[in-house]
Amino acid sequence: MHHPLDIFPMRLFSWLESLRNLRYVPKKVRLLLVGLLCVLSAVLLTLPAVSQQPVTLKLLMSAPDVPPWTKHMVKAFEDSHPGIRLQIVEGPNQVNLLEDMYTTAFLLGNSPYDLVNLDVIWAPKFAAAGWLMDLSQDISAEELATFSPADVEGSKYQGGLYRLPVRSDAGMLYYRKDLLDAAGLAPPQTFEEIEQISKRLQDQKAVRWGYLWQGKQYEGSAAMFVEVLQGFGGFWVNSDTLEVGLDRPEALRAVDFLRNTISQGISPPGVTTYVEEDTRRIFQNGEAAFLRNWPYAWSLLNGDDSPMKGKVGIVPMVRSQSGTEGGSCLGGWGLGIAKTSKHKQEALQAIRFFTSEAVQKEFIMDAGYVPSQRELFNDADVVAKYSHYPELLKVVDKAVLRPPIAQYAQASDILQRYLSAALTNQQSPEEAMKQATEETQRLLEAGRAQRS
Ligand code: GLC
Repeated sequence: MHHPLDIFPMRLFSWLESLRNLRYVPKKVRLLLVGLLCVLSAVLLTLPAVSQQPVTLKLLMSAPDVPPWTKHMVKAFEDSHPGIRLQIVEGPNQVNLLEDMYTTAFLLGNSPYDLVNLDVIWAPKFAAAGWLMDLSQDISAEELATFSPADVEGSKYQGGLYRLPVRSDAGMLYYRKDLLDAAGLAPPQTFEEIEQISKRLQDQKAVRWGYLWQGKQYEGSAAMFVEVLQGFGGFWVNSDTLEVGLDRPEALRAVDFLRNTISQGISPPGVTTYVEEDTRRIFQNGEAAFLRNWPYAWSLLNGDDSPMKGKVGIVPMVRSQSGTEGGSCLGGWGLGIAKTSKHKQEALQAIRFFTSEAVQKEFIMDAGYVPSQRELFNDADVVAKYSHYPELLKVVDKAVLRPPIAQYAQASDILQRYLSAALTNQQSPEEAMKQATEETQRLLEAGRAQRS
């Protein structure tokens, strides 16, 4: 059977022939016929484009991140880009397991994912391995200037640009405002005050636990530890000199602080197995006075079904009495394109859509994301819902980066292992942090030798 479009040229020819024979037909009628013919041709010529299969872009992300995307945003994207479909694949909750999934896919060759949802710490590794497209020629300096510099910095590697930030992140301290107000206490400014206030509220039986943090051996513990280190005046890796600071007195004091919260009963013994969501749930149940977590927790803690709704305050991460400045760890997520994707143009359209100010605003209002588009921190609707966002911009601007080095995943793995050993009393803090330092130094030296 002939497809109607296959026989169209033959028909057209015979119609033209008949038109010629119709030269005695009045001019007006002929013009009308030609006009009709043009309209018909236009319709038939656009048919193949309309009937073409849409391009499907695949994107893997951790399961708790999926709902805000699949609720409205994927549909909004597909509606405004009729030739593109976006398939979100749910990955594991913990970010390092998600990283392992991407890594395995890339190592096997043809990654099934076109878009890559990149944690701020992954760009150097993924770029150095050649897994991502360099977008520096596609994104103009004007476009980049609307994002927070720290988020853009975390997207670059050796002059290339490998992701655009969809959202930023910065560790925060949540506190029970209702309990502190009742006790006439201001929010703590130091780790030592967290300990003192916790003990007081625990003694009064106002709460079971004082302070909740992420102590499981995974990436979240590295992010949490960066903040305690900063607060005690220490550092992990100096990315310029590649000096490692994990066995310095400041770092040992930071480990001691965390260990003491457990030994004094301020933090539950289970804290060494907790990830973000474990700590958020316990705090949301009203069982603790303080919580270290990312800003996403705010919307959940203040949700209609939360017993903590309206009872929580939030401040930037504190410092130690012995340190000079506290610091939040910079987190955040962005989209890059897999080198093997056959749909670069469509993927770029998706990246522009999801990183745009309008779409970020939807994500923020819905899920409490932290903007990477700077204007949004002071947007009237955003501030009406989250009054702390103008303050959060300052926190993001001052946030501490985890070392932006290509061997970050291994460096983090070393820290996670030895920190966990020290927190669970498998090794003394001195011994653990000495070994962590030496292993990290060996790793960085091997990287240096490879480059030279
Ligand atoms: C958050 C942060 C991310 C960090 C992770 C650790 O998702 O945005 O940067 O690596 O938490 O669990």
